[in-house]
Amino acid sequence: MPVFDRLSIVVCHAVVPLLLVLLSASGHPQTFPCRLIQGTALCNSCQLSTIPDHLPHQIEEIFLDKNLMLNLQDGCLSRYPFLRMLSCANNRLMTVEESVFSESPLLENLNLADNELHYGHKQVAKSFSSLSKLKTLDLSGNGLSADMVSVLVQNLSSLETLYLSRNSMLRLDESTFRSLHQLKELNVERNLLFEISGAFDHMKKLQRLNLAFNCLPCLVNFEMTQLLVLNASHNSVEWFITNQSLNETFQLETLDLSDNHLLFFPFLPTYNRIRTLLLSNNRVGFYQHFANDTSSNWTTRVEYYNLGQNVSNITMEIWNENLHGDLSSVELLDLSENKVNYFPHGFIQQMPHLYWLRLRSNCLQSISLTPEDLPVTLYELDVSRNRLTELKASQRSISELNNLTHLNLSTNDLQNLPSRIFTSLPNLSTLDLSDNAVDVCYLPNYTSFSGCVVLSNMVSLKQLYLSGCSIQNIPSSVFKGTPLTHLELSSNPDLHLKQESLEGLANTLQHLGLGNTGLQEFDFSPYSHLKSLNICRNSLLEIPESLMALNLKLLDLRDNMLTTIQSQHASMLAQRLQTVYMNGNAFNCCHLDWYRTFRKNKDINVVDLSEITCLDTNHRHHKIVLLDVVHCGGLGNEESAVWYILLFLTVSISIMGISVIYMLTFKPRMLPRAIKKRCWRPTPY
Ligand SMILES: *[C@@H]1O[C@H](CO)[C@@H](O)[C@H](O)[C@H]1NC(C)=O
Ligand SMILES: *[C@@H]1O[C@H](CO)[C@@H](O)[C@H](O)[C@H]1NC(C)=O
Ligand SMILES: *[C@@H]1O[C@H](CO)[C@@H](O)[C@H](O)[C@H]1NC(C)=O
Ligand SMILES: *[C@@H]1O[C@H](CO)[C@@H](O)[C@H](O)[C@H]1NC(C)=O
Ligand SMILES: *[C@@H]1O[C@H](CO)[C@@H](O)[C@H](O)[C@H]1NC(C)=O
Ligand SMILES: *[C@@H]1O[C@H](CO)[C@@H](O)[C@H](O)[C@H]1NC(C)=O
Ligand SMILES: *[C@@H]1O[C@H](CO)[C@@H](O)[C@H](O)[C@H]1NC(C)=O
Ligand SMILES: *[C@@H]1O[C@H](CO)[C@@H](O)[C@H](O)[C@H]1NC(C)=O
Ligand SMILES: *[C@@H]1O[C@H](CO)[C@@H](O)[C@H](O)[C@H]1NC(C)=O
Ligand SMILES: *[C@@H]1O[C@H](CO)[C@@H](O)[C@H](O)[C@H]1NC(C)=O
Ligand SMILES: *[C@@H]1O[C@H](CO)[C@@H](O)[C@H](O)[C@H]1NC(C)=O
Ligand SMILES: *[C@@H]1O[C@H](CO)[C@@H](O)[C@H](O)[C@H]1NC(C)=O
Repeated sequence: MPVFDRLSIVVCHAVVPLLLVLLSASGHPQTFPCRLIQGTALCNSCQLSTIPDHLPHQIEEIFLDKNLMLNLQDGCLSRYPFLRMLSCANNRLMTVEESVFSESPLLENLNLADNELHYGHKQVAKSFSSLSKLKTLDLSGNGLSADMVSVLVQNLSSLETLYLSRNSMLRLDESTFRSLHQLKELNVERNLLFEISGAFDHMKKLQRLNLAFNCLPCLVNFEMTQLLVLNASHNSVEWFITNQSLNETFQLETLDLSDNHLLFFPFLPTYNRIRTLLLSNNRVGFYQHFANDTSSNWTTRVEYYNLGQNVSNITMEIWNENLHGDLSSVELLDLSENKVNYFPHGFIQQMPHLYWLRLRSNCLQSISLTPEDLPVTLYELDVSRNRLTELKASQRSISELNNLTHLNLSTNDLQNLPSRIFTSLPNLSTLDLSDNAVDVCYLPNYTSFSGCVVLSNMVSLKQLYLSGCSIQNIPSSVFKGTPLTHLELSSNPDLHLKQESLEGLANTLQHLGLGNTGLQEFDFSPYSHLKSLNICRNSLLEIPESLMALNLKLLDLRDNMLTTIQSQHASMLAQRLQTVYMNGNAFNCCHLDWYRTFRKNKDINVVDLSEITCLDTNHRHHKIVLLDVVHCGGLGNEESAVWYILLFLTVSISIMGISVIYMLTFKPRMLPRAIKKRCWRPTPY
């Protein structure tokens, strides 16, 4: 806007001299503190202790974060009647005088986060009473107790968004937010809340509630039907229970209960729209098998006693799977790091729209990859770090899982997989079989054999992880017809890769992991698309020559036996590589030209540079970054050894010469004796 452009120039000229005086008086950098962009003044981090009073009259937004203000004084905003937004986060405000906002009738958004408003909260509350249009208020990080908060927001009935994270609230009840009927979003994360009683009942418009990082022990009798997002992660919640007698559809779409102490799958509303259900890092298991067990005295009902004075019983039948509520809209279920050892019959099929099923680190012993047991919509299945010994699948029907793209089976105990189980998944793109004792093989069509998996002719497969599988042999053609871009074979120490093992991958492979594979001779030059190569832990004495033909961006050379890098190799690598790891080799301190080449080239990043050591001629380790060039300058080099001997001789001769001259000059009396001694023997003449 031209008007503002001209205005800001005028303003700059008018304000600069004055501010210069101010700033030089306080010894601060002499720059014009505020930048003006249209109706916004940006005065963050300017060491200001008051609100600048020379901003344009029409200003609508002022940012004053990270300054040194202690107080907002009456009248400091009176020049700016059009103010809609004021941000004074990260100052040292202890209070705000009572009439500060009385001339800011349009103020909608006020950010006072990270100040010390607990000191003068009563006065601050009074100043808020004129903010009849305030919609968004941030009071995070002000050391506020629940009582202070209830005074502060007492009359802010227009408020729609309220941030109160990082305060000291312990308990919320009906009185805390009494007048906030319009509230849509409330964030009280990182307080010390251990109890909530009726605090939200009147907030009929509340859609987003963040209770994360508090101390809540349970969430029972959940009835907030209008809520879209509930985040109660990082508490101590053992139970999540909805009032299941409510007949309404809950609007809830996202429920985050991760990092709690849940013992049972949460009891969700009977009717709901939950799409994202996050339950990772709890203690969830299923116990239905106890339900019919009449021999033991297992209780089948649990009673919860309200923590308030009025005790009311909430009774749940914990073994009854129907009481888990409606799961039919769930798209993402994250149950990572729980205690799931099986799923009740029909449990997963209740989720016909499930795309992401994350079950990492549970106790599953078997899983069934069949359209009868998994929804055909499934896109990602992560069952890594379980106790799987068995993968059930029927060759014929597995192809119906045609959306399955990511399958992570790493770190299990899988051994005898049906050999063609993966070739039948039509859209599989990433397969992680690491840390299982699986073997790979190439079988002619229509033969099947268990004991090895077939990975050829999988046109969709791009990324394959086979590290730590104790693979010894990769026969030729194993990857034929499978356009892998990413192949991880590391930690198969007996592999000893042969040239023909990677047949068919020359035109696609971009990442190859061969760390700790006993790698010796391998010609990398056919793999012209390789961008990233890991050959760490292979006892290599030098960098394979064939790498020089490649356009690598990342190279991992750690823990080999390299003593140096030839200078022409070093300059080639330095030109192409962006990232390199080289720690754990036996570099010679006197052959560090490669290091200087790498240092000169700014594009190459030696990630572990500070840890790289070299050995000097006495087999002492030096960090190469600390190595003083003078210390070494050619030690160990044969040519220079000759020079050293020469130098030594010269010095010795000089010293001898000097001694002789010294003796001759200063100790003349010694001479005759020496001569006498030498002449002691009677001369023959
Ligand atoms: C809120 O409004 C009531 C009634 O108008 C008044 O008595 C009270 O003092 C106000 N509270 C604050 C903190 O201004
Ligand atoms: C819940 O809150 C935590 C802490 O702020 C955050 O890390 C997490 O992403 C939130 N969850 C969702 C689903 O937004
Ligand atoms: C659950 O909701 C029903 C229906 O609104 C109500 O009658 C009942 O009291 C609620 N249960 C509890 C424990 O509040
Ligand atoms: C739920 O409400 C619908 C209509 O509002 C009604 O038809 C149905 O009978 C109710 N169900 C229960 C269990 O109250
Ligand atoms: C428990 O018993 C019921 C009826 O007797 C039966 O339908 C159900 O399959 C049994 N559940 C288990 C886990 O054995
Ligand atoms: C079950 O409880 C009853 C009474 O409390 C007791 O007599 C019985 O021994 C218990 N049975 C088992 C199997 O623990
Ligand atoms: C407890 O219940 C009584 C009546 O049943 C009610 O008057 C009282 O307000 C309740 N107390 C609390 C803290 O809810
Ligand atoms: C809770 O339920 C138990 C068993 O059903 C009953 O004995 C007890 O009186 C109930 N307590 C209250 C406060 O309703
Ligand atoms: C496959 O999964 C994706 C989620 O990644 C989803 O958007 C898509 O609708 C699914 N396709 C089918 C056919 O289910
Ligand atoms: C297979 O995956 C591709 C993308 O990876 C996607 O476009 C396609 O829709 C998927 N096929 C099916 C049947 O879901
Ligand atoms: C598979 O899971 C493991 C362990 O949970 C994880 O480290 C790995 O990155 C995952 N693989 C892929 C391809 O995401
Ligand atoms: C094996 O099957 C693949 C595709 O499934 C086909 O391209 C190939 O020609 C077949 N090979 C033989 C020997 O039949």
